[in-house]
Amino acid sequence: MRVATVVGARPQFVKAAPVSRALRSRHTEILIHTGQHYDVRMSDVFFEELEIPAPDHHLGVGSGPHGRQTGEMLARIEEVLESQSFDFVLIYGDTNSTLAGALAGAKLHIPVAHVEAGLRSFNRRMPEEINRVVADHVSDLLFCPTQVAVDNLTAEGITRGVHLVGDVMLDTLRMQVKRGLPTQRLLASLDLQPQQYVLATIHRAENTDDPRRLASILAGLDALAEPVVLPLHPRTRAALDRHQLNPGNGHVKLVEPLSFAEMLAAEASARVIVTDSGGVQKEASWLRVPCVTVREETEWVETVESGWNVLVGTEERAIASAVRAAAAPVAAPPQDEASASERICSILEACVG
Ligand code: UD1
Repeated sequence: MRVATVVGARPQFVKAAPVSRALRSRHTEILIHTGQHYDVRMSDVFFEELEIPAPDHHLGVGSGPHGRQTGEMLARIEEVLESQSFDFVLIYGDTNSTLAGALAGAKLHIPVAHVEAGLRSFNRRMPEEINRVVADHVSDLLFCPTQVAVDNLTAEGITRGVHLVGDVMLDTLRMQVKRGLPTQRLLASLDLQPQQYVLATIHRAENTDDPRRLASILAGLDALAEPVVLPLHPRTRAALDRHQLNPGNGHVKLVEPLSFAEMLAAEASARVIVTDSGGVQKEASWLRVPCVTVREETEWVETVESGWNVLVGTEERAIASAVRAAAAPVAAPPQDEASASERICSILEACVG
């Protein structure tokens, strides 16, 4: 079996690592990196740490407005797909790289397999929501992490090729925890004590691009008595400069983006996590750390239903009081014992016969 995997942004490296490992144990995978994320700390460190093989094709697309970025990816992915034969194009998640991979495969009549299919925020103002909907509707195989995702697809009339496989990010998390986390080194370097700080991540366009929302989130973090560590996504750093915001008043510690192992270590020892990321909401519940999500809705409704995550929006006082009140609920978070990556690999194999 020959699979073309398309990745480009940080969360995709995390998702692709275990599937790539399973695939390469018995098949050929050609890895296409669109270049959407290009900084060493947003891309290279993930390839090294997660032992992802070097990309076979690096398209070097980089940043840009949505149309140009996605269009350039589409044209360059198409060239690669036309140059060789493939049984599947494998895409992950909901970024512009996902959309470009989906369209390139579908137009060339190569079966498209979407990992993390069926997620919905029902907010079409998010670029990720448009990417998910389009990718799902042109995919032949839809690998859903949750039953809610399966139900979302059913509601849109997509029932063929749908497989509930579990979450590949849990495979990556387990792999990394087994290898060990750099907890002591990281906490010492940041001068933090376990359970006595808040970890925050903010990068969604809807939060960074609106100066009032970003200022309000930062004010909510500033209002806390305990230290807050905020690894800065490049989009957020650029937005802080653009909006002339400077949250570093002593409580909020701005740091460079963390590697995957460092991030898990920072998550696992935090008292509370504040985030607008999808993946971090899930990791928080898997690591049994209460999460406060600064969005109006979430695709990962199970984390909220189980009591490990609360949605608070972006209002300063709502954030501060939710973080102060956050505590572990009685119920265990949703878990899955089997390996989603192996299931995906087996289903792909069964489809090529
Ligand atoms: C993208 C995804 C988002 C995902 C996020 C994870 C889309 C529409 N969005 O958002 O779903 O949650 O990745 O990180 O695909 N930049 C750098 N260096 C980099 C990468 C980006 O400086 O290595 C800067 C550039 O100024 C760029 C900005 O960050 O303009 C935004 O980057 P982009 O890849 O367009 O979107 P993300 O915000 O990272």
